[in-house]
Amino acid sequence: MTLPRHIAIIMDGNGRWANKQGLPRIAGHKVGVESVRAAIKFCLAKKIEVLTLFAFSTENWERPKEEVGFLIGHLFTEVLGKEISELHKNGVQFRVIGEIEKLDKKLQQSIHEAEKLTANNSGLKLVVALSYSGRWDITKATQQLCYEVEVGKLKSSDITIELLNDRVSLHDLPEPDLLIRTSGEKRISNFMLWQLAYTELYFTDILWPDFREDAFTEALNVYENRSRRFGK
Ligand code: IPE
Ligand code: IPE
Ligand code: MG
Repeated sequence: MTLPRHIAIIMDGNGRWANKQGLPRIAGHKVGVESVRAAIKFCLAKKIEVLTLFAFSTENWERPKEEVGFLIGHLFTEVLGKEISELHKNGVQFRVIGEIEKLDKKLQQSIHEAEKLTANNSGLKLVVALSYSGRWDITKATQQLCYEVEVGKLKSSDITIELLNDRVSLHDLPEPDLLIRTSGEKRISNFMLWQLAYTELYFTDILWPDFREDAFTEALNVYENRSRRFGK
């Protein structure tokens, strides 16, 4: 079986899942954490190299204050605190991409500690995109290049695709082979715009809290039957 080296997931549909049960949106986010656990377990078992999870976008800051407070101030902080030792035991290397300066200090600190603790692990690389957007990522890389021109390290005519690529998030890892989006929406929603250039896209109607092992297996089966040509 041809397995993807890098799987990226837009975990969508928590709010709709909760609505369907007559519960507040927050309840969907809580059950969504169970699906995150299941996805990590699945990738560990399949020996996938990289799993990138879109957890909170730049645009998600514009949601109601209570929802943002719950996700950032409570859920992510608590889950990270509780899970990190288990991830470490399983050899997971944990990383966060995104504008983490916008997160509260306590969460920033737990992120740094978790990254440091697991930095030398050689198992699954688990990347969480938090306060992340593709346009932010490309803008940040552009800023870096401009700075290097400003201080005379580079000329603008030296700039190539490779040089920009070296400054976007996850440039040291293989690009995503498979992007999964749950909940029936068929869009990228400002996720890894640069890195998804040749990624296979897979959309399922299943809502994220219901996305478990069988659904993941189905996505891999579909991927296996895709023919990737990279324009050649
Ligand atoms: C995805 O579920 C989780 C986040 C974006 C944080 P949503 O909260 O977007 O759920 P829907 O799309 O409203 O159902
Ligand atoms: C994308 O989902 C972001 C995450 C899953 C973190 P959204 O629910 O924010 O995207 P839209 O609003 O449907 O495009
Ligand atoms: Mg959504």
